[in-house]
Amino acid sequence: MELFDSHAHYDDEKFNGDREEVIRAIYNSGVTKFVSAGYSLESSKKGIEIANTYEYIYTTCGISPNDIPDTIEEVDSQLAEIEKLASNNPKVVAIGEIGFDYYWNKENKEIQKYVFEKQIEIANRLNLPIMIHTRDAIMDTIEIIKNTEFAKPGIFHCCPQNKDLIEAGVKKGFYISFAGPITFKNSKNADEMINLVPINQILIETDSPYLSPEPNRGKRNDSRNVKYVAEKIANSRNMNVEDIAKITYENAKKVFNIN
Ligand code: NI
Repeated sequence: MELFDSHAHYDDEKFNGDREEVIRAIYNSGVTKFVSAGYSLESSKKGIEIANTYEYIYTTCGISPNDIPDTIEEVDSQLAEIEKLASNNPKVVAIGEIGFDYYWNKENKEIQKYVFEKQIEIANRLNLPIMIHTRDAIMDTIEIIKNTEFAKPGIFHCCPQNKDLIEAGVKKGFYISFAGPITFKNSKNADEMINLVPINQILIETDSPYLSPEPNRGKRNDSRNVKYVAEKIANSRNMNVEDIAKITYENAKKVFNIN
C-alpha cells in the first residue's frame, strides 16, 4: 500500500535532531510522496531546499495568516518573493498555506484578506492550486470561495469539520484534505463530514509535526501516521483502506499536477 501525505512541515524545528532519518523512514514505510508545506517566506525557502533534496517530496510557497509581516511594504515585498520562488519550480505544487485565522489573530482581518487575495492572484497567474488554512473564519472563507475565480481547484488543508464550508468547497471543485482530528474520539461529526465529500475530491494529510491522529495523539507526528487518517475514512465509507490509499494518491497527483 502506497500513501500520499498532502500536507506536513519538515522544515519544523521539531525535526532538527533527526530530519534525514525520519524522512527516509517515512518513504520506506510506504508513504512514497508527501508535501512539506510552507507558511512563511522563510519556511517556503526551506521547503524548496527539502523538496530539491528528496525526489519524492514536494512543497508549497505562501504566507499564512499567522505569519504576516508588520508593515504593508514588507508584506508586498514578501509577496513578490513568494511569487518568484513559486515560478518555474516544478517541485512547488501549490500556493499555501494561505487563508484566515481568527483564532490566533482577530485584530487584523482586513490585512489577512489582502494577503489571502493577493496570493490567490499569484496562484492564478502561475496556474497553481491554493492550499487553504482556515480557523474560526468559516463565513469569510466561504465568501471568498464563492466569489472568486480560480485557475485550478484548491485544497482545504486540515479541513474544519463544518458542513457549510465543505459543501461550498465541494461545489467549487475543491479538494477536502482530512487530517488527524477526524480520528479523535471527541470528533462527533467526522463520519458525516467524510461522507459529504465525493471520493475523487478527498485528500489525506498529517500536518506533521502537529495533530497526531489516534492512537498516537499527543506525540510528535510524522507522515507514517497518515495511514490512520486513511483507515478512518475507509471505516466511515465502508471501503477498504487499500482503495482509499489508491484513490487519495491519485487525487493528490491530480490536484498537484504530478506525473
Ligand atoms: Ni500546516
